[in-house]
Amino acid sequence: MNEWEKAYTNGFLVNTNKPSEVILLAQDLLPKSGKVLDIGCGNGRNTIYFANKGYFVDAIDIVDLDFLKEIPKELLPLVNYKKTSCLDYSFDSRYDIIVMARLIQYLTVDELDLLFKKAISSLKKEGYILLSYSATGKAISEKYGVNKYNHPLPLVLDLVEKHNLKVITLKEGNKVGIHLSYKEDAITYDIVLKLL
Ligand SMILES: C[S@@+](CC[C@H](N)C(=O)[O-])C[C@H]1O[C@@H](n2cnc3c(N)ncnc32)[C@H](O)[C@@H]1O
Repeated sequence: MNEWEKAYTNGFLVNTNKPSEVILLAQDLLPKSGKVLDIGCGNGRNTIYFANKGYFVDAIDIVDLDFLKEIPKELLPLVNYKKTSCLDYSFDSRYDIIVMARLIQYLTVDELDLLFKKAISSLKKEGYILLSYSATGKAISEKYGVNKYNHPLPLVLDLVEKHNLKVITLKEGNKVGIHLSYKEDAITYDIVLKLL
């Protein structure tokens, strides 16, 4: 069992089916159809949001929460779930939208660097990366034993620049715990990115 399977077994959950705020923040900018990659899809809330709108979605996570059994049958042809780490995923499609919602705080800086490298290689020229993360707080490590890294915003923005991405929208908030099985105040960022 990997650390995330243990966390979910021990009660970790994202307790909402609403899409991530970074998606709502970007929704007027996004192409109205196309292909989405949802990295670290969890319970599939963002995957299902995009499939409901007619996008094709590749969804990956290191835990299989079997969310496809809950979704309407007509959405099944639109969704392709694979249990894998984003660090092993081959990124051999081209995507209009890549979602990294509440994922990067669980990756080391080197892993994040590699993820950006892989992601931009499969992002279409006019595509968007939708990134959200929490930059403070350790409750998830203490409660569920998951490794959490508090990446300062300047470090993430340096990587953004290094990988020839530009920030379209950046919103700072304080909202960890609204939809999670643990409560904690933390600084969070919703960041909409495009290729330079
Ligand atoms: C806080 S949850 C967020 C889930 C979902 N993105 C959301 O916003 O509801 C983090 C998810 O990232 C997944 N995850 C962690 N490390 C991963 C990795 N290296 N590759 C793929 N998924 C990973 C975990 O299994 C977990 O489902």
